[in-house]
Amino acid sequence: MSGGLRLAVLASGAGSNLQAILDGVHGRDGIEVVAVGSDKPGAAALSRAQQRGIPTAAFPLAEQADRAARDGALAEWIAGRGAQLVVLAGYMQLVTPAFLARFPHAVINVHPALLPAFPGLRAVEQALACGVRVFGVTVHFVDEGVDTGPIILQRALELPYAREPDDVLPALHAVEHELLPEAIRLIARGAVRIDPADPRRVLLEPGTAGGTSP
Ligand code: GAR
Repeated sequence: MSGGLRLAVLASGAGSNLQAILDGVHGRDGIEVVAVGSDKPGAAALSRAQQRGIPTAAFPLAEQADRAARDGALAEWIAGRGAQLVVLAGYMQLVTPAFLARFPHAVINVHPALLPAFPGLRAVEQALACGVRVFGVTVHFVDEGVDTGPIILQRALELPYAREPDDVLPALHAVEHELLPEAIRLIARGAVRIDPADPRRVLLEPGTAGGTSP
């Protein structure tokens, strides 16, 4: 993927990561956010997109027969907008295998922990309950597991005295707001690929910031 990139972003909540994408990569170097979708019609993320004139749509599960039907409609809408990469930015739903098959190796997620530690929901609460002193953020390709796909970028955050989510979240969000746009820039310039010798692993272009590929 080089020479521009059309993105769809999916978000369930506040959309601060979407905002970081809109502020940091949208409209630069040929990268365009062409669709913002949600499972929640009232998600603030949708208003952030509308303010920038980006088409939005909500696909609540309650309005569809089941997850397969919902993800089918969502994939159809995203593909119709010509998106080449789907970014899960605080999208609190699992996507179906059929959805992933529609966008092979082209769905990424930002997760508020250093995977494979603390996958799934409430990652920061899980980490606090374990008394960790180092928190972090992972951007990874999405596969059929829960937060198990190949890791693109990770960044650690030392907070040895954190006890409550509020001791962690502001700093963690700041890291997310750098790391997710960075991963998108790398993908747009063709600097990210799955290792043909080991598909669990991502190879980054040598010299890439945050990259350690040989
Ligand atoms: C972010 O912290 C993101 O890492 C997390 O939801 C938050 C959304 O914030 N995602 C997950 O926990 C996914 N398992 P935002 O709506 O302000 O971008």
